[in-house]
Amino acid sequence: MSTIPSLSSLPSNPKVISPTTLAHVVLQTPQLEKMRHFYTTFLGGHVVHSAPFLVFITYDEEHHRIALLSQPHITAKAPSTAGLHHIAFTFPNLSALLTAYMQRKKHGIEPAWCVNHGPTSSIYYKDPDGNSIETQVDNFERVEDATEYMKGPAFEKNPIGVAFVPEEWIERLRNGESEEALMQRDDKDLERTLLEGDVIV
Ligand SMILES: [Fe+2]
Repeated sequence: MSTIPSLSSLPSNPKVISPTTLAHVVLQTPQLEKMRHFYTTFLGGHVVHSAPFLVFITYDEEHHRIALLSQPHITAKAPSTAGLHHIAFTFPNLSALLTAYMQRKKHGIEPAWCVNHGPTSSIYYKDPDGNSIETQVDNFERVEDATEYMKGPAFEKNPIGVAFVPEEWIERLRNGESEEALMQRDDKDLERTLLEGDVIV
């Protein structure tokens, strides 16, 4: 017996069931091979299935997280177009985030922007088509604390963040500073917004 309600049995303004997870992102690209190489390298992932016009990539238990759809005749992404701004991937801790940063660097993949947002410390990249990708670590152990921070005065004043230099953080970690201390955003000067030269990729 199905428990799916009939349309007439539903209230006029029902709360829709939320999904369990955000499953995957599909990107259309005019350069499939280059993007396949980039995403498998970038995510430490592998191809689950490929066809001449389609590639499915995963890096975890999901069957695919990124799919690439070959569209040879589409034009380059226009920054002025509405739509997706970036995709974000979470890492378990700061050391993992910075290790992945170093490994990507070894592959010649350099970041576009490194910023401590407050709730997360984030390293942004661009893929070969110009799509923005965020790699991040949660700065708070408990999501409730991150939410609290986002409701607080420091985030109200500066919801973008404070830039950081990964090599400086790596050095400080090697010198014994804790991840927690490094990830605590410097909110002493609430007037401060973006550092000179900062960009929102
Ligand atoms: Fe983000």
